[in-house]
Amino acid sequence: MKRAYRAALLRFDDHGRPLYEEDGLLVVAPDDQGRQRVLDAGSHAAVAPRHPDAAVTHWPGRILAPGFVDMHIHFPQTDIVGAPADGLLPWLENYTFPAESRFADPAHSREVAEVFFDELLRNGVTTSLTFATSHPASVDAFFESAQRRQLRMITGKVLQDRHSPDGVRDDTEQSLVDTEALIRKWHKVDRLGYAITPRFAPTSTDAQLRGAGELAARYADTWVHSHVAENKDEVKWARELFPQARSYLEVYNGFGLMRERAVYAHCIHFDDADRQLMRATRTATAVSPTSNLFLGSGFFDFEGADRIGYAYGLASDVGGGTSFSPFATMLAAYYVGREGQTKPGISIAPSELWWRHTGGAAEALGLAGTIGNLQPGCEADFVVINPQATPLLARKTGLAQNLEELLFAMIVLGDDRLIERTVISQALPG
Ligand code: GUN
Ligand code: ZN
Repeated sequence: MKRAYRAALLRFDDHGRPLYEEDGLLVVAPDDQGRQRVLDAGSHAAVAPRHPDAAVTHWPGRILAPGFVDMHIHFPQTDIVGAPADGLLPWLENYTFPAESRFADPAHSREVAEVFFDELLRNGVTTSLTFATSHPASVDAFFESAQRRQLRMITGKVLQDRHSPDGVRDDTEQSLVDTEALIRKWHKVDRLGYAITPRFAPTSTDAQLRGAGELAARYADTWVHSHVAENKDEVKWARELFPQARSYLEVYNGFGLMRERAVYAHCIHFDDADRQLMRATRTATAVSPTSNLFLGSGFFDFEGADRIGYAYGLASDVGGGTSFSPFATMLAAYYVGREGQTKPGISIAPSELWWRHTGGAAEALGLAGTIGNLQPGCEADFVVINPQATPLLARKTGLAQNLEELLFAMIVLGDDRLIERTVISQALPG
């Protein structure tokens, strides 16, 4: 059965430019597997006559927009948001590894997975590329909950067989056996996807990275997910451990871990040869600005990425990142875009920030046309935004003269209160 939702409507065209209808209509219908997809979208005046049979829900004063896509987040770090540290490496040692060691316990994994998904959905995030921990139980807990909630979600068992304490360090051979078993169990089941997840080069042996690369070749439509060039001490360490590689990024390339659907968080301390390698291999960056500001890691070079032209999108990187809210991430990206800016004008346009956290992030994940937009054919994962959620938002959005001002008011002042509801593309029973 067709359903239609009437409200303001935000979408993006094929170039990532915003399309906005003040009085819009979004029509959804089940596909042949019973999953809700966008059938038609546009102005109410144009779209409504084409669907006289649709049951219409009217949300006056609200904005319908694509569900946000978080390109890099750690579900087991939900409880360590805001842990203070000198920088990345002490933060990992003092907070992250102890917290992650608890995920050997399936009950703890299940409990935190529920909190994590509740938090994502309250913030309007409908898909994330997600780190689990090195324990297979954490992956099972994540996928079981995502499957029950019918979400499109991606995760994988973390690979870390050296320079890691007891409790999170895994065994080289077993880690690869477990990874392959988890791929077979979960990849492409309902809307779930598997990511081969070496934590970062310093915590994997050559044998583990080689094995990960072999799995990435054998299972070509899985994701590859890791960290690179986040922090200067980390870069120095990686260069010492892999002296034969031209750069830290090249280590991954040497093990077959750069390809379409490979996503690396951070990518801050890059040169143009690294950027060219990202482009040539169709590898994407998950830009994580709240994390980079919080841990003092540095500033992603947006101009450098655009000059060479490789794929990137936005990410929270919770728990290095400080917020689940896409509004906080987009605002931090705006601040970071100021750093190193050589061209006059504002930092990054509000509509581009928004696209980088929806359609652009989906494209960087190889999921364009599936999620991150509300064009016909997309899965119907969307948010209902109340631009009057707080007194100041009501004033400020009411004063907006154009779409960029409206989006910027929400980016600067917004948080989870803006997200009135998150609608998930449900499959009908039977
Ligand atoms: N590098 C290796 N592990 C991590 C992690 O958990 N968080 C961040 N931000 N960087 C990492
Ligand atoms: Zn991370």
